[in-house]
Formats: sequence, structure tokens, C-alpha cells
Amino acid sequence: MINFKELISKEISKNTDIDEKNIMGFIEIPPSKEMGDYAFPCFKLARTMKKAPAQIATELEEKIKFENGEISEIKVEGGYLNFFVNKELLTKEVLTEFDNTKEFYGSESKKDKTILVEYSSPNIAKNFHIGHLRTTIIGAALYNIYKYLGYHAIGINHLGDYGTQFGKLIEGYKRWGNEYNVEEDPIPELTKIYVRISDLCKKDEDILEACRENFRKLEAGDPYCVKLWTWFRDVSLKEFQKIYDLLGVKFDSIKGESFYTDKTDEIEKILDKAGVLTDSQGAKVVNLEDKGLGICMIRKSNGSTIYATRDLAAIKYRADTYNFDKCLYVVAYEQSLHFKQIFEVAKYLGIPEKCVNGLEHVKYGMTRLPSGKMSTRNGTVIEVKDLLHEAISRIEKIIDEKNPDMKDKQENAKKIGIGAVIFNNLCNTLIKDQIFDWDTVLSFQGETGPYIQYVYVRTKSVLDKFDKIPELKDVDFDCLMDESSQKVISTLYNFNNVLNNVIEKNETCYLTHFLIELGQNYTEFYNNNKVLVDDEKIRNSRGYLSYAVQTVIKTGAKLLGINMPTEM
Ligand code: ARG
Repeated sequence: MINFKELISKEISKNTDIDEKNIMGFIEIPPSKEMGDYAFPCFKLARTMKKAPAQIATELEEKIKFENGEISEIKVEGGYLNFFVNKELLTKEVLTEFDNTKEFYGSESKKDKTILVEYSSPNIAKNFHIGHLRTTIIGAALYNIYKYLGYHAIGINHLGDYGTQFGKLIEGYKRWGNEYNVEEDPIPELTKIYVRISDLCKKDEDILEACRENFRKLEAGDPYCVKLWTWFRDVSLKEFQKIYDLLGVKFDSIKGESFYTDKTDEIEKILDKAGVLTDSQGAKVVNLEDKGLGICMIRKSNGSTIYATRDLAAIKYRADTYNFDKCLYVVAYEQSLHFKQIFEVAKYLGIPEKCVNGLEHVKYGMTRLPSGKMSTRNGTVIEVKDLLHEAISRIEKIIDEKNPDMKDKQENAKKIGIGAVIFNNLCNTLIKDQIFDWDTVLSFQGETGPYIQYVYVRTKSVLDKFDKIPELKDVDFDCLMDESSQKVISTLYNFNNVLNNVIEKNETCYLTHFLIELGQNYTEFYNNNKVLVDDEKIRNSRGYLSYAVQTVIKTGAKLLGINMPTEM
């Protein structure tokens, strides 16, 4: 498709001798269509050109030419140059491109770039909390979008499956395992065992020592300890898998922290050789105080490794295995310092510079929980599985009221309920803390998942009334020149650009906003233009546009992890 922004930048650059890239960065999208499709703020050049913005605008307006008529009008307005794209050309471009690509509209061809996206990463034998739900949803969406744009994306689940607490858990299980039904309800039962043994350790030093011994045995590969630990891991993963299935989330690689423990000696050696490792009361540390990042512990005085050491080993392993261009960590902002530290220390690991530069912490904010029965006494622990099921059953109730005869009621309720939770996690700047409120999340109006699905279902009911879906050759572009059709078309034009914004900034809200805008513009189009009219040309043209909107909504939502219901 023609890149109008680039074209305009080229022309301005040619007539000002200012770098095209710079110009491109200045170009804005005016707040309303009446003001044009693109605007260039001439005051950006006032200093360099030593002229008043208004004068620059008038002069440029006279010089700039679009030989092939790509821009139909240029208006000077208060130091701005406003550009109006040739509507016929835009319409033809968008619909032809759509016709050629359909459900791949906006995608890009294969690139020789590897992007690792690490997300979810819950801790075994522990609660999968609402923060883990967020990283799972965000990470999966970023992963999908990178793939769609042609990158070689790899989804990684970095399980928390290592630590001294497993020595305790083994001891507790050894003592009272038969009192608990771990197989049936693993996480709560293991938590109970853990709490009980921890209490006992506080009173009895001998038992604490036995727990430490268990951990040493686990590290040394003692069959009983390893067997129990493996089982804890398996039952936990099976439990997590239920959540992944509900969300439709997949991983290419599931490797726990335990995978990296035997690789930490090498990390220590490399850092030592690089001359950055220092002794601190028997512990080995990298001092990052001159960078304002405190001290990064590599090995504790008792010889055990820590979270950071295993993360460094993972960086080295990933660089060696994938030679990645980017490695994104979708983890809550609480861990900011941890990631700043390990990214700094990673400079000394001897891995390719592009890998070091490609390390990035994608931070997200907290979700405050609904009060009432979803939260426990202290209001912080929530069963994610219950939350997802509650979303589904609340939607089932709404359907029972609105559309009791719906076919595939359960399947649709699942798509709507889960879709609503997913959308809610992606529709704001990620760093922002958010309050989870059922009424907002599940509303069929406003900026929500169900709203998008509602528009989709509307396009579907329009198209169901056609004998067959219209084809591009049946479309008369002249029938789509009205303002509301044009709004839909220029939104469609932006799809690929929006996806690129998502990965450039690691912000999913570009795509959620896009879908809302497309939904609103289609709704306006639908209210202003009857689709099922007698005039065949008009019917087919509007029908084809509806078909394009339907397809792009489905594709865009799918990238976020949201599926479309058949009815609402
Ligand atoms: N398991 C950790 C937690 O639940 C998150 C791991 C994040 N990833 C990492 N490479 N450190 O807090």
C-alpha cells in the first residue's frame, strides 16, 4: 500500500533540505477528519529555517507537488500544512490490499530477527496470582503480534521451580503427605503443608536443619527428593495448564529456574574473569553502586545461588541458543531494580552486543481486586481460575436475560467472558495500576472486549443476509465516498501501522484503541448507510466494506487472544 506519511515527508524533505526521517517524526494525525488526514507543524522548522511558521507553510504549499495525485488537497492553517489524501486512491488501495490478504491483512513477511518473549512464569506449589494472569495475557499478545509482523518469536515460560522452600515442602510431605489431597487440589494443599512445616521450623531448629538437608539432597540429585520435587512441579504445571487452556495461551519453551542452576558456576567464573566480582562478607557480588543500582548478589556466603544468578545464566543460555535480537521480560514493575541490575551485569557475560542491547523489561502495573468473595481475608490472594470462571458465569446470566434461545450458549459465554478479562488487561498503558471492576469489564458498551465482539456480531448478521459474500469486483468505489465510509476506510488503512506501534513501544493499548475506533466508526457507518438496499452496486460495496471490517476485527482481536462469538 502507498505510505502516505512517507510520501509527504519525502516531498517536504525535498523542498527544505531537512532529513526525511526527522520530518516523518513531526507529522501528526489531526484530531478530526475535517482538518485533513495528516498535518505538518511548520513551527518545528522555524528555528532551522529562520522563518515564521506561517511563512514556511505558505512557501511549502506552493512548492510541494504530488505528481500522481496521491494528495488531493493541501491547506495552510495557522502554521500548519494540512494534507487531504485522495479518497478514491485510498479506498482502492485499502480494499485491494485487503482482497489480496484477507485474514492476513496487515501482516508482514518473514524477517530474520529473533524475539524472545518471556511471560507468565508462575512459581510452582504456589498460587497463580492476578499478577501472573496479567503477564500471561500481555506476553501472549506481544508474542502473537511479533509473529504476525514476521518476526521469529519464541514464547518462554520461566517457571519459578527452585529455591530452599522445596526442602521444607519435601519435609512436610514426608511427615504428613497422606493427610492432604495434593493430586486433586495441588496448590492449596501444598500451600497448607508449607505453612504447617514453616510453623514447625520456627519452633524446632532440628526440623529446620532437616529441611536444609533435603534441599542439599535435592540439589545433589537424591532420588526421593527429586521424585517428590518433580511431582510437585508436574501437578502444579497441570493446574497452571487449566488457566492457559482457558486463555488459549501457549509457550514454545517451558524451562524453570532449576534448569539454570548447574549453569551458574560458569557465570561466576566469567564475571570473576571480567574482574567485576568482589567478595563481601563471604558472598560474591557485583558492585553497581557507581551506576546507582546497588549491589547484585551472585552467590550467597553459604554457597547457594540466587534468583539473579539464575537469570544471568538464562540470559547467557538464551544468547547462546537463540542469538536473539530482543528478549522481553513481561514482569511486574516491582522487579524493576532486579532487571536493571541483571541487564547491567549481562554486559560482562561475553555475549553478543546485540543481545545485551536487546534485553528489555516490559513492566506492568498492579491490578486491584474486587472486594467481596473473590478476595481472601487480606484481600491480596485471588484464585485466577475462579475469576475466569466467574467471568464466564456472569456472562451466561446476561445471555439468559438478553438472548435465552442462543445456540452455543456456553461456548459463546466463554469467548465473551474470557475476552472481556483479556481486553481489560490490555487496554491501558501497561504501567498503570488498574482496578478490576466486574461491571466495567463485562459491559457491552464502552471500551471493552464485549463491545468489539458486539460489533463483530453485527457485521456477521449483515453478511448473513447476503446470498454470498460480495467480492471486490462487485464493489463500486464511488459508493464509498461518503464521510462515514471514509472514516472506516482510513481506520483500516492504519492497521499495520498500529501493530508496529505496539511492538515499538510494547504497549498493547494501540491495538485495543484501534479496535474500539474501528467498532465505533463501523457503527456510525451502519447507522448512516443502510447496507441491504435494492441497488446492487451500493449493497455490494457496503457489504464488502462490512466484510473487511469483520475480518480485521476478528484478526486484531485474535492477536490479543480474544475470540469471536457467533451470537450475542
Ligand atoms: N517467578 C517470578 C515471580 O513469580 C517471575 C519470574 C520473572 N522472570 C524472570 N526471568 N525473572 O515473581
